[in-house]
Amino acid sequence: MTANAEQQEAWNGATGAIWTSWADRFDAGVAEHHTAFLDAAEIAPAEAVLDVGCGAGRTSLDAARAAVNGPVTGVDIATGLLTIARHRAVEAGVGNVVFREADAQTHPFPPGDLDVVVSRHGSMFFADPVAAFANLATGLRHGGRLCLLTWQGIEHQEWMRAFLAAAGVRNSPPTDAPSPLSLSDPARVHRVLGAAGFADVTLTAHRAPMWYGADTDDAFAFVADLQAGLLGDLRAEDRERILAALRADVAAHEGPDGVTYDSATWIVRARRP
Ligand SMILES: C[S@@+](CC[C@H](N)C(=O)[O-])C[C@H]1O[C@@H](n2cnc3c(N)ncnc32)[C@H](O)[C@@H]1O
Repeated sequence: MTANAEQQEAWNGATGAIWTSWADRFDAGVAEHHTAFLDAAEIAPAEAVLDVGCGAGRTSLDAARAAVNGPVTGVDIATGLLTIARHRAVEAGVGNVVFREADAQTHPFPPGDLDVVVSRHGSMFFADPVAAFANLATGLRHGGRLCLLTWQGIEHQEWMRAFLAAAGVRNSPPTDAPSPLSLSDPARVHRVLGAAGFADVTLTAHRAPMWYGADTDDAFAFVADLQAGLLGDLRAEDRERILAALRADVAAHEGPDGVTYDSATWIVRARRP
């Protein structure tokens, strides 16, 4: 039994299946946030980097390029996504990265080895965030850096509001339990990271469009798949109605650059004292 059994089941089950099928699309979707986040991580040649919840590995690979010969490790609990990450590293000829299946909350990282811990949307799902970040702090050297990309509140996420509304879901994801929004409240981020032993915690707002596809057909195929879990148990006519509403919303967001929705992230930085 792991500390995050529910998440392990989800990321190796239906959620993980969608993420493996659409790995390139998820990367393209957050590309603008990704660039700002990587810049903020300021990874220098020869630095040792850990990418938490690395998924299909895009951040780990870019971190490895920035670290040049520095060792980069991506950890995740999702077997299928790690397989993609390993393939991508081979294909790209990036040799200074390894991927490990491990729960970042409890994995015994060698103490003080790391210069930087990064995570692109992979650190919001811990059952015990204080324990998890304290564990990551132990892996960092004194003075080592933490750099996270997390979502801001739902009021800043046009994509999330639109897809939940189309599916008739009234409750937004919790902000104080494992969910995409669990590190959206700056006060909570300060509280969690402070209790975990981090200092100099800052949050920088970043606003950018999320890209869903080249046109309505392309984006709808993706978005409909994202909603599949919510729609599975519905009667056929309800499912059809929701999908029609979703398609209309996607079409209304098609512009010259494809289908985009507004979104906003926090770039969270902190330091192990
Ligand atoms: C939203 S996805 C982000 C994946 C990747 N960082 C990206 O940006 O494409 C969240 C990732 O966190 C991973 N994850 C969740 N809980 C974890 C844990 N306790 N330890 C390691 N990885 C975890 C999931 O398996 C999933 O791959």
